[in-house]
Order: sequence, then C-alpha cells, then structure tokens
Amino acid sequence: MVSLRTTAALLATAAIAVGATPARAATPAAAAGTLYREHCAACHGARRLGDVGPPLLPGSLTRLSRARAAQTIARGRVGTGMPAFGHTLSADQIRSLTALIYTPPARAPRWGMRRIRASHRLYFAPGSLPARPVYRADPLNLFVVVESGCHRVAIVDGDPPYTILTRFPSHFSLHGGPKFSRHGRYVYFASRDGWVTKYDLHRLKVVADVRAGINTRNIALSSDDRYVLVGNYLPHDLVVLDARTLEPLRIVPAVSESGRSSRISAVYDARPRGAFIAALKDAREVWEIPYRDRDLARHLSIRRIRLSAYPDDFFLDPSYRYLIYSARSSDHVEVVDLDSGRAVARIPMPGMPHLGSAITWDYRGDPVFASPNIKTGLVTVVDMRTWKVVRHIRTLGPGYFIRSHQATPYAWVDIVFGPNRDAVQVIDKRTLKIVRTLRPEPGHTSMHIEFDRYGRHAWVSIWERKGAVVIYDARTFRVVKRIPMCKPVGKYNVYNKITLSPGTSH
Ligand code: HEC
Repeated sequence: MVSLRTTAALLATAAIAVGATPARAATPAAAAGTLYREHCAACHGARRLGDVGPPLLPGSLTRLSRARAAQTIARGRVGTGMPAFGHTLSADQIRSLTALIYTPPARAPRWGMRRIRASHRLYFAPGSLPARPVYRADPLNLFVVVESGCHRVAIVDGDPPYTILTRFPSHFSLHGGPKFSRHGRYVYFASRDGWVTKYDLHRLKVVADVRAGINTRNIALSSDDRYVLVGNYLPHDLVVLDARTLEPLRIVPAVSESGRSSRISAVYDARPRGAFIAALKDAREVWEIPYRDRDLARHLSIRRIRLSAYPDDFFLDPSYRYLIYSARSSDHVEVVDLDSGRAVARIPMPGMPHLGSAITWDYRGDPVFASPNIKTGLVTVVDMRTWKVVRHIRTLGPGYFIRSHQATPYAWVDIVFGPNRDAVQVIDKRTLKIVRTLRPEPGHTSMHIEFDRYGRHAWVSIWERKGAVVIYDARTFRVVKRIPMCKPVGKYNVYNKITLSPGTSH
C-alpha cells in the first residue's frame, strides 16, 4: 500500500512540474481556483474531495487552523507526499489558496454508489486465506495501536516481550474506534476521509478497502459479522457495506422526519437488539435499524426515536436498552428508553461529558457508569438504576478517556487538557477515590489507557511524534515496558473488544 500511494504522489508531482504555467485571472477567487487546479488538484482532487492527499474542504479541516494550513502549504510535510510550495508560490498566493480550502464548494459534493464502487478493492476473496495465525502470539491478546502521527497501525503482542508483529500504513487520519469481528480475526478501520479498511489479524494482511464517504464519523459492525454501517458527515448519509468483502450494498440518505438533511454524529451496533443505532447531528432523532434475519440490501427499515435535543455524543448502557446522550452546550444529559422511545431521566452533567468513553461497573451492588468531562476536572459516576449522580470525582484537570477492566479494582483516567496533561490518575472503583497519580513521561502528554485481556497491565499512550506506549503493571503501578511509537492514540485489545468488557467503550 505504501508503495502504491507514494508512486502516485511522485507521478502527480512530476505532472505538476511539467504542466505549471503562470496564472493570470481576473478575480482573487478565480485566481485561487486556477492555482488550485494547477498545483493541488492532482493530489487533492479536482473538487477537493481528496485523492492521494486528504480532502481540502472546511468540514475536513476542522482540526487544522488556517495558520497551520498555510504553513503546511509553504513548507510541505516531511515524510509524506505533501510537497513544499514556499518556493513556487508567493505569500499572497498561499494566502488565497488557504482561503479557498476553507470555503465550502459552490455545489454540495456528492459521493454516490458509482464512486463508492469504483473505489472498492478486494485483495483477498473470502475464504482464500487460511485461518491459522502467521505468528505464535495469542491472537486474542493482540493490541491494535493507531499511530496517528505517521498514519499507520501497529499490531502488538499483548504478552511479554510485547513484540510488534507488524506495522502497516493506514489511510489519512483514522477516526473512531476500529471494530472487531465476533471471533477477533478481522478488524475494520475507518478514516476521516471516508475509507473503510478490513484487515486480517491472523494473516496480517489488508483484505479489502473502499471509500464510502468524503468525511466519515465512524463505523459499526453488525454482531453477526454481516454488515458494516458507515456514518458520514459528508455526504449526509449512511452506507451499508457487505462485511465480508466491503462491497457497497446501499446508501441511506440521512433525512429527518421533517425532511431536513443531516450529518450522522455516530453509529453503533446494539448486539442484543440485533440492530444498529445511528444518531443524527442536525436533527433531534436517533434511528434504530434492525439487521437480524434481514437482508439489508433488499429491505432496510428505520425506526425513528425523537429526542428533545440534537445528539452530540452518546453511549448505550450494557443492556442496550438505554441511550444516554448529551447535546452541545447543554448542562445535562438525557436518558432515553429505546424500547418505549421516551426520555426517562435527565442527569445534571455540566462539564461536557465524553460519553463515548464511558465505562461501567458495580459499585456497592448497583450498576454505575463513569464519564470524564472535557471542560471540568471531574469524573462523574452515575447510578444506572436511579440515574442519579453518585459522585463527582475531582481530578487534576479535564480528561478524555477513562478505562478499566473487570479483573482490576481500578479505573484509569487521562488528564489531557490543562497543565497536568502528562498525568494519568487511578480511581479505586470500590471507594471512588483517587489512589494514584502517575506521570509516565513528565512534561509529555499522556492519553488513552487500555488493559490487556487479563486486566493485569495497563497501556498508556505518550501522544507525541516521538512518543511511546508505556505498559504498567496494573497492580504495582510499575512500568514494565516502553515501546517507541509515532503519536499513538487509541490502543485496542482484541479480547476486551470482542467480549464487550465493561471497562472499555465499544
Ligand atoms: C504530490 C501530491 C500533493 C500535492 C501536489 C499537494 N498536496 Fe497537499 N497533501 C498531500 C498529502 C499526501 C497530504 C497528507 C500529508 C500527511 O500525511 O500529513 C497533504 C496534506 C495537505 C494539507 C493538510 C491537510 C490536513 O488535514 O492536515 C493541506 C492544507 C494541503 N495538503 C494543501 C495543499 C495545497 C493547497 C496544495 C496545492 C498548492 C497541495 N496541498 C498540493 C499531497 C499533495
């Protein structure tokens, strides 16, 4: 995959060098358009939808400031296919190109069935690869580590000496957690620019690849391993793929009951319901899409559940009966009973909870969920029978991820926002008290924790280009290993994911 993409990038650069002629155009916008066509379109697509390079549309650039974008254009990015234009283009030209890429296109970009089909690649047909792993490690204790800084994925043995079995290039900016097939053989990734990749964890090979959207939120895999559902921001739709081959089966436009077109804010599999749950971002609705005993290519039905606010972030309780969601700039979260379709509780959570990361356990005989908060240094613990806050646990600052495991009495939370971003704090699930503060690499951001299948070791990411994964003994809190990694973010343990461990999100 690497070689293919770099070759394409080199070819594109050559084509540009040959074809370049000075641009003269009447208006600044037209001038920018001409510059774009000459210097950028070969890699980023004539309509800015992405090709060798990522899409250059406002919705795809939300994490990049204009200043950083201008700098990227001028200096390029070392080690990637993005060339430097500081010598070819003037500061003014770079400014107008920057303005252009943050301007929405005149016509809403489309990504229909024809383009999805044309992007589809099946490298290995179902059944063509033997099932036996090509390594000796326990295939259920593998970790899939996303190294975001280098657009690649590492597959790491979860047992000592923690060997990296392989690394492979991913599409630009993987997004949302990868999803694992029932028995843990396959893992599915989604990238922000719409690519869905299926990877064989036994043979260590990419099996299939398809571009299902322009700007994708996340994917869900049906618990019977038959369908992948892709939730897109752009276009406003859901795409159903055949999970065996990633062939596209159908597109479902995201249109609310009142006819409003909407982005999809997230999709999840609800295993006991035999259904997908999809939340609309620009409409007060969630959808339940049953797949059990159905052929989604022929019949797809949507059950609409009305909400009182626009869902931003949510999680499903372990029974998959309740949807707990937050709305942007709201000071509470709402609980909806998916069976009756009615709101059953409101929980005051003013600190902007990151519900997508919430975990659950039993506290003094009652099931609770716990969520970090993005704006305040609190972990909120909520009783799932009464939907009352049990405790706000004060931490050193706002966090993003909380993780635990059924076999450990501790929950670990990162503190990624604020001056204590190098810290990870450990909460005793029995007392709801903080018992440890760890600083795996003082002064360097640490984030996202994941346990091995036994709950014996906790893996923490040092979120930097020259970062690492630091492995702790979860009982003694001693570091047992440091594996250098390129800006690692999420790490996913196969066993914990396929068994729906209550200590991690799904
Ligand atoms: C030879 C191919 C190529 C050409 C030509 C090219 N780019 Fe890129 N560009 C890329 C690649 C590949 C990346 C992704 C780099 C990475 O991995 O971080 C990229 C990244 C970018 C980014 C950062 C996007 C993000 O989300 O982080 C911007 C902005 C950008 N390019 C703008 C431009 C502009 C403007 C032009 C024309 C002046 C241009 N590029 C020409 C290949 C190219």
